[in-house]
Amino acid sequence: MALLPILKYPDPRLHKVAVPVAQVDDRIRQLVRDMAETMYAAPGVGLAATQVDVHERVVVIDVSEDGDDLLVLINPEITWKSDELIVFEEGCLSVPGVYDDVERAAEVKVTALNEQGQRYELEADGLLAVCIQHELDHLLGKVFVEYLSQLKQTRLKSRIKKQERDALKA
Ligand code: NI
Repeated sequence: MALLPILKYPDPRLHKVAVPVAQVDDRIRQLVRDMAETMYAAPGVGLAATQVDVHERVVVIDVSEDGDDLLVLINPEITWKSDELIVFEEGCLSVPGVYDDVERAAEVKVTALNEQGQRYELEADGLLAVCIQHELDHLLGKVFVEYLSQLKQTRLKSRIKKQERDALKA
């Protein structure tokens, strides 16, 4: 087990598009374990492989109260989205300290492989539906702040640049 470094926005590697996992083998199972450990340690409720600079379609999620219900999604695909939308205040381990409202489908159906390589289907609503959509966006190279207004994105980038300058001075 190992904690993996998490890429921070606006690292360009966060915009790489992940490729499907060719085979669910021990390498992928090790990646899943390391990603889960990294997510729980952060702590966070979801992590996509893109965020740890692995550009394959792997996501871990745990939205349970006690952090004991790990969901592993390998090669996930959303097969259905509700027309009904939901607004949630989102955050991201790759954009520390930033929380903002994003509108997404209120319910989704998703199909994915588990660590044994078996396909399963899942229907989700509420926080889980939001989290699935947020993490699958990462696999497409999209970070949630890209849904915010241009003004907010510009402000965020200049704030990050200032933080980096201040860190260099310190
Ligand atoms: Ni995220």
